[in-house]
Amino acid sequence: PAPGWTTRADVVVVGSGIAGLTAALRIHAADPSLHLTVVTKDVLAAGSTQWAQGGIAAALGPGDTPEQHERDTLVAGAGACDVEAVRVLVTEGPDAVRELIALGTQFDHHPDGELSLTREGGHHRDRIAHAGGDATGAEIQRALIAAVERAPEIEVIQHALAVDLLRAADGGVAGLTLHVLGEGQHDGVGAVHCRAVVLASGGLGQVFSQSTNPSVSTGDGMALAMRAGARVRDLEFVQFHPTVMWLGPDSQGQQPLISEAVRGEGAFLVDFEGHRFMQGQHELADLAPRDVVAKAITRRMIETGRPHMWLDARHLGADFWERRFPTILRVCREHGVDPVTDLIPVAPAQHYESGGVATDLWGRTTVPGLYATGEVACSGVHGANRLASNSLLEGLVFSRRIAEVLPGELRDWAEPTPDERPEGLVSGDRRRALQDVMTSRVGVLRAADGLAEALEFLTTVDPGEPVVGPPAWETTNLLTISTALAAAAALRTETRGSHWREDFPDRDDSRAGHVDSWLVDGDVR
Ligand code: SIN
Repeated sequence: PAPGWTTRADVVVVGSGIAGLTAALRIHAADPSLHLTVVTKDVLAAGSTQWAQGGIAAALGPGDTPEQHERDTLVAGAGACDVEAVRVLVTEGPDAVRELIALGTQFDHHPDGELSLTREGGHHRDRIAHAGGDATGAEIQRALIAAVERAPEIEVIQHALAVDLLRAADGGVAGLTLHVLGEGQHDGVGAVHCRAVVLASGGLGQVFSQSTNPSVSTGDGMALAMRAGARVRDLEFVQFHPTVMWLGPDSQGQQPLISEAVRGEGAFLVDFEGHRFMQGQHELADLAPRDVVAKAITRRMIETGRPHMWLDARHLGADFWERRFPTILRVCREHGVDPVTDLIPVAPAQHYESGGVATDLWGRTTVPGLYATGEVACSGVHGANRLASNSLLEGLVFSRRIAEVLPGELRDWAEPTPDERPEGLVSGDRRRALQDVMTSRVGVLRAADGLAEALEFLTTVDPGEPVVGPPAWETTNLLTISTALAAAAALRTETRGSHWREDFPDRDDSRAGHVDSWLVDGDVR
């Protein structure tokens, strides 16, 4: 629909997690004269960052080096990482974390004042900084919001869903349309004319029936970028976290994460017979990279006909649980499981999209003036399987890089060209059926026939009677991004990292290249 209001900003940042707020703060610091607007779909703190438990990885500990962090990241990424991007991540990571500390983030320290670092799957060193025990994301989010509040020149529009990019005659950014639900002088569909857009809108967990992601993670930024002609890459590499609390067969939506750090502190997986099935599967056993553990759990579930496995962390003891994992302890108890005395039922669930909008080493996408950072982006650091606790770090490092180049390469103001595409909205009530198909056919285990069934469903879905508004925008975005994801998964006829094909069970290095997705005339290619 035609915008009901228009406004202007030099730069619009879409999203308010670690990637979005870091980009906003750093761009503001680089050039305070720029009019900078942050738009976020819910309130500032509602995204995925605040849910991060384990922490943020960086080579900060004695004896650790960026080279060792690089090695672990590349191994986890299963041959699909961009080595240059990984090098940027691990070498700039330690400074970026120190900057987060300078900004006011209170990480946990040992009594002697040293930063407390833990270990998670795939890491050969203790290199995960954490806060509040297992509330790292919440503490980082708190510190970043406080910093944004200290910079009132940064305009914030909450409850604003980014709908579509407005494009200039040269195809580059000229603005952004938003659907705002009652925020100050803006309400309904409007447009911000701008010279650059930084997408930091997070992931797509709501594509699946069960995910650790909050309800706002509907792939909006990826779908918006595709509609604007941007290249999207590696979507088939969806990470399923191995230890998500199993709440029963009918549980839908956001599920409680049991951080890998619990295994990092000594917890281990057992089957219904009490057998420690991770032993002998990998040199790191229960702390193998995430895809290895998720596959081993799934295999054991299939072999034994059980809907979940168990995590045994009873030996950590009540004091340790209360001090180190207070959030997880509380959530488990809320669900009737006391990890001090009970085994925790766990099963893999969607956790992270390693692919996204393709960027260069400075966050630039293939659309002039459009940048992407954090989970929405594919900078190449995660390859086929993200290493634990590299996601907060990626948002931090690449947002700093965007802020280094963006002020110097801002486009001139440009008139948006008329948008003549058909609306193509899908009704919000199609969401559940889409999630069911994606979960059963494009989930942990994939095969050609199931992927073909999913694609048939997704490309012929009846749009229903959509009412213009966030439920329909979100479901339309979920449909676009699900179609691209299922098509990419069908094209990758091998098993690599988090992409597991039953019909192609081996890694095939002749297929190691990327799968790119584009929208051409409304169709995913
Ligand atoms: C966890 O705490 O297990 C999640 C960390 C991550 O996803 O990197």
